[in-house]
Amino acid sequence: MPTPPHRDPVRWCAPWSMAEGEARARELFQRAFKSSPDTLRCAPGRVVLIGDHTDYAAGLSLPTVLPHRTFVAARARDDGRVRVTSAQASSVDGPTGVWEGTVADLAAASDMGWVSHVCGVLWALGERGFEPSGVDIAISSCVPIGTGLGSSAALQCAVALAVNDCWGLALDSPAGRVELAEAAIDAERRHVSVPTGGLDQYCVLQCPPGEAVLLDFATQPPAVTHQPLYFPDYGLRLLVIDTGMRADLRTTEYAERRRSCEVAASALGAANLREVFESPGWLRRVNQLEDPVMRARARHVVTEMHRVRLVNAELSGTAPAHERFMDIGKALFRSHASLDTDYGVSTEALKLAVDTSFAAGALGARQVGAGFGGSAIALVRKSEAADTAHAVDGAFLARGLTRPRFLTVP
Ligand code: GLA
Repeated sequence: MPTPPHRDPVRWCAPWSMAEGEARARELFQRAFKSSPDTLRCAPGRVVLIGDHTDYAAGLSLPTVLPHRTFVAARARDDGRVRVTSAQASSVDGPTGVWEGTVADLAAASDMGWVSHVCGVLWALGERGFEPSGVDIAISSCVPIGTGLGSSAALQCAVALAVNDCWGLALDSPAGRVELAEAAIDAERRHVSVPTGGLDQYCVLQCPPGEAVLLDFATQPPAVTHQPLYFPDYGLRLLVIDTGMRADLRTTEYAERRRSCEVAASALGAANLREVFESPGWLRRVNQLEDPVMRARARHVVTEMHRVRLVNAELSGTAPAHERFMDIGKALFRSHASLDTDYGVSTEALKLAVDTSFAAGALGARQVGAGFGGSAIALVRKSEAADTAHAVDGAFLARGLTRPRFLTVP
């Protein structure tokens, strides 16, 4: 491993405990609204172990949750007023202080940064037939914002859980959580106008800590299979590398990738790329696509579905553990190469994070989420996590890039 070129401490981003997160949300609520909340709820950020850019192609994805959560303190109102405040308001787009409106304003509140995510959930629940009656909401979060770790989903899902309590919607059951996830997805797609494929929200509301969820988007809602992650039992952990670079191009580039998948599927006479993947000779079929860009895009999506199956099978397999984790690591590296070369969604910083993790001995590494910025993960031996982080930090400094922040799961 090359000698790190500096000795500054690495920037770690530690999660808050449940008690700390709840205390922060409660205190903010009391300060802003001069009363106590009825309920305290939270939802985690998410990180995709493998299976990116597959959800909108009716594919497979295997995400897990971060120990970093968004906390919401809330209290029902019966006068139709809505008041919202966030401890993070000054570091994101949108109003600072307390935003005030009424349930009648929710539909129009779609261009106000973080407030729109909150209003979007209330509006979406109203659209689904749950009459909003007004609410006060205070938010405090330690999920890194805007860097591919599901911060929007964490916010929307924590708000959905809190208003479920306030308005007595009785949706905190497995089936109810699907309804809440769909409201959060509607908020993202129809209110904030970001074309999510849904994996973030379904993961955040259905994945317990220490597990991944295999989401199968062949059906709507997706079928969910719980998959315990045994990394800690084998001295392994996920190191998350937050490059701090926002995914600014996301909306246009993301929409363009989705479109390529639809066009490729239809050129192959299929309803979606999942149908192609399930057919005999799927890779050969995709490789016969004439247009080289479309061929590459489709190849990423079908090979990524294949890697999700492989990683899921290895996680629950019976082969010797070292063999299974080496195979999982290889699949992570391959996924990264595919997102970079075939899907064209990588960046210099993400590639450097993955390459440096490899040089430092990681079993596997890949960029996560939509790409064009954001974060990467490395599957590392627990004893080597700090050295890997130090090596990545040094490599970023040497390249003149903003120093990354590091998180670990669990
Ligand atoms: C974003 C979207 C998800 C998914 C990922 C890429 O996070 O919200 O639905 O498409 O990108 O896997």
